[in-house]
This record gives sequence, C-alpha cells and structure tokens, in this order.
Amino acid sequence: MTGYDLTRLLPADHFHHALRHDVQNGLTASPKWLPPKWFYDARGSELFEEITRLPEYYPTRAERSILVARAPEIAEVSRARTLVELGSGSSEKTRLLLDALRGLGTLDSYVPVDVSESALEAAGRALTEDYPGLGVHAVLADFTHGLHLPDGDGPRLLAFLGGTLGNLLPAERARFLAGIGERLRPDDALLLGTDLVKDTGVLVAAYDDAAGVTAEFNLNVLNVLNRELSADFDPAQFEHVALWDAEQEWIEMRLRSRRDQTVKIPELDLPLHFAEGEELRTEVSAKFRRERVATELAAAGMRLAEWWTDEQGRFGLSLARPASAG
Ligand code: SAH
Ligand code: AVI
Repeated sequence: MTGYDLTRLLPADHFHHALRHDVQNGLTASPKWLPPKWFYDARGSELFEEITRLPEYYPTRAERSILVARAPEIAEVSRARTLVELGSGSSEKTRLLLDALRGLGTLDSYVPVDVSESALEAAGRALTEDYPGLGVHAVLADFTHGLHLPDGDGPRLLAFLGGTLGNLLPAERARFLAGIGERLRPDDALLLGTDLVKDTGVLVAAYDDAAGVTAEFNLNVLNVLNRELSADFDPAQFEHVALWDAEQEWIEMRLRSRRDQTVKIPELDLPLHFAEGEELRTEVSAKFRRERVATELAAAGMRLAEWWTDEQGRFGLSLARPASAG
C-alpha cells in the first residue's frame, strides 16, 4: 500500500504509565536518573534537529558523509524491499538510503519506528510527497519495550542510525541487540551507526555547545514531567552538565540542582528532595571502537559483514548479518 499510515503498537495510555513508572523508579534511586526517551516530546524532537546542525555536533554530518559514499553499496548488498528504521526521527539521512534503494527498484515500503509521534508525522508527510509510490508505514512504539519488525516482504534492511544504540545502558543494549539477532531472517541485514571514541574535548563540546541548545534539550525533560505528571520543576533551578566517563567510555548528561529544593509530583504523591549540587542523570551516550561493535554483535548472534567510517574516523557504520546466514 502506498501513502502514509501510523500504527500504535501500545495502548493509548502506555506512555503515561511508563513515564510514571520511570519517574517513580529513577527519581527515588540514588543517584537519581531517567531514561533518555523522555526527551522527545514535540519540542525535544525539534531541539534534537537543531542539535544536528550545531558546529560542535559532528555525529550527524559524519554519519551522513558515510551514507553519501556507501548508500549505493548498501542498497546493492541488501537489495531490501522493506526498510525498517528504529528511532527514525526526521528520517533526513534515511533519504540517502531511500534514493539508493529506489534507484535499484527493490524498495516497496519504509517503516519508521519512533516514540515521537510529531517526528513520525512530519517525516511521514514529507516522505510521501517526495517519494510517490512508496508506502510509509509509521509505527509509534518503544524499541526497548518489545521490538517490532514487520513481517513484510524481504529482504528487510533494519537501520538504527545516529548512534542511538549508545543511549542504551549496557544490559539494555545487550538485550536489545539479542532481540534483533533473534528476529533477523537469513536475507535481512542490520545497518548500525555508532559514534566512536575520540578526543575528550571534541566529545564534551558536542554535548555542551556554545549556543546552549543541548542544555535546552536536556532541561526540556523537566517540562515533559511538568506537563505529563503535573510536577512543579523550575528548569531555571537546574543546570546542564556534560562529562566524559573514561572508564565506561560514554558521555553522561546530567541536570544539577542549583540549590536545595523540593519538587512536587502530585500525580505520584511524590515530594522529591534535591540537595544543592545534586545531579540527575538524563542520558548516557556510549562511544564505541570497532572491536566492541563486532563483539557485541557476535554475542547477539550477528556477524559484522562491513565496517565503514567517515574520512576523519569519527563515526562507524556497520552492516551486520545473522551469524547463521552464509
Ligand atoms: N535517527 C535519527 C534521530 C536520532 S534522535 C538521526 O540519526 O538523526 C533519537 C530518536 O530515537 C528520536 O527520534 C527519539 O524520539 C527516538 N527514540 C529514543 N528512544 C526511543 C525508544 N525507546 N523507542 C523508540 N524511539 C526512540
Ligand atoms: C540520539 N542520540 C544518539 C543523541 C546522542 O548524541 O547521544 C542524543 C543527544 N543527546 C545530546 N545531544 C544529542
């Protein structure tokens, strides 16, 4: 079927319940933390797009340059009829894959999967205009909460771009990759973008830009809690923190309380105390090396078939196959 449609895999109240659960769980833990998926309301999705255009935020440009060089080869080796993309956002870089697959004449449908309905709608409308005849079957779902791969026509190419894999914690990441390994059919492939370990100054600047857009993105999660759970966070009373954890090889984003304060979340009957200087972890963004990507894919029943980087070696794009496939 051509045109655009959206499927909700989860009950309408799922996200509300899941947010309540994550807030109850993460904000009563020590240290406090929240999963990064809650950044992406409509404003958060817009702010992420602004981040991708910042001079300091190199991953989007680096990954795009790999796709410019390799999309024809990716299309040729995958010969995909269905392109599924997890955490698709604006689907901007995806256009390079769509162009290459359409050029080959193999592609029937594109399945963007995201938690952000506004991002799915905006991308879906634009793509159906620009790619007449393509079926865009958007799925509103949480890829950490039961992975959905459409049964559609194969071969399927499953894209997970942008380095979003690095936003999962190690155990969550292993579970997630194992789920993909179990679901890939012998002629399917996984296209995985991973940001790479590099100079600490470059990494930290990418998450603490001079214009303050990443700070606004980070603080926006407090607006989400205020709106969805009637909390009374004052974002001005928190400051954005980005630091490099050399042991874990990840960037950590945190919100640091500027003073001793108590926040109320009436929906949860939860008074939350923040001491001055106390930090709430809002995101990890793991950076990889080729060996780690190959090892984690192997542990999930996949084999690294191709590995490409941009010219400066900042970002890695992997093509993986089920280990059992020839
Ligand atoms: N792939 C795009 C966007 C990356 S931003 C790019 O490379 O530029 C991360 C995207 O993943 C956002 O659109 C966000 O809404 C989505 N996302 C984050 N966590 C998710 C989850 N658990 N399930 C589904 N989508 C998620
Ligand atoms: C979506 N993800 C890969 C981004 C990253 O770089 O970890 C999210 C982001 N956080 C701050 N800036 C961008």
